[in-house]
Amino acid sequence: MPKKLVNRNPAVSDFRAEVLLGMEKQPRSISPKFFYDSEGSRLFDEITRLPEYYPTESEISILREKCSELNQLSMGSEEGIELGSGNGKKAAILLDCFGKMNSYILVDISITALEEAMDSLSSKFSNMDISAICVDYRDGKFMKQMEMQHPGKRMLIFLGSTIGNMEPEEAMEFLKECRNSMMDGDRFLVGVDMKKDPEIIEKAYNDSSGVTAKFNLNLVERMRRELGAEIPENAFTHMAYYNEGKGRIEMHLLCTMDFSMKVAGKEFIFRKGETIHTENSYKYSAEEFSGMLKKAGFTKNSYLTDSRKFYGLFVADA
Ligand code: TRP
Repeated sequence: MPKKLVNRNPAVSDFRAEVLLGMEKQPRSISPKFFYDSEGSRLFDEITRLPEYYPTESEISILREKCSELNQLSMGSEEGIELGSGNGKKAAILLDCFGKMNSYILVDISITALEEAMDSLSSKFSNMDISAICVDYRDGKFMKQMEMQHPGKRMLIFLGSTIGNMEPEEAMEFLKECRNSMMDGDRFLVGVDMKKDPEIIEKAYNDSSGVTAKFNLNLVERMRRELGAEIPENAFTHMAYYNEGKGRIEMHLLCTMDFSMKVAGKEFIFRKGETIHTENSYKYSAEEFSGMLKKAGFTKNSYLTDSRKFYGLFVADA
């Protein structure tokens, strides 16, 4: 089968410009999208396999173990569109599960991830029509262009609790965009990390082997490597904690000393105890998230969870 990979050349973000902007802000921040250079992507892959990092394995266990329920809820969807499909590992499990699906579209911002996904999926599912689009699905018009033409036939798929990395208002907007790109009767499958004992959540973001710390600190390495930033050794450490009031894990780079950082011809003063905020990961209860789906215009939704009730897969009807 010929490969069908369309490269829409998503805009490359300007690390230098965004770091300079983020250092001027109070509190300081760097966008989480900069985690994922090749070293960062490798480290994140390692995170997903850590014993403490439960979200990935929990989501995969639901996809595997609740396949018959998923099939029933899919109402025989014939086409899947997965936003942020990455290397296609979860797509393979879904395609194993959804017997009626005959076409699947992978959407991701990383061309290398899509190439890998197309390679492994098109040989394993050679009777299916598998294609890929390299694009930033958050970028402007994409969701509108995806508008689905055959009512009730498609399933939009959004896994990995990526919705949790958006601010709640942003998540609501995105859910509405998803709903508006769908026809009545289409399905929406979305993965969400659930609220639980904060200790379990905090461990997932502070693993004992230090991979998560390395992942967060890769931003400091990137500033050194790519922007020639002068930063003292061990000036930053990884910090992640659960903010109960906001229902989110916050990731920060914490300053361990007073120092000045020279980067791109500018100088920034840092004080011990100050942080650079790098990401939030919101956790929802089943009621909260189900309410958001309703508010976004989905008529009805069902929730599947794993044996420990750590993670939720919602199937919503448009
Ligand atoms: N999107 C992932 C999440 O929210 C990202 C992540 C996992 C992460 N571990 C991290 C980000 C540690 C920063 C630091 O679960």
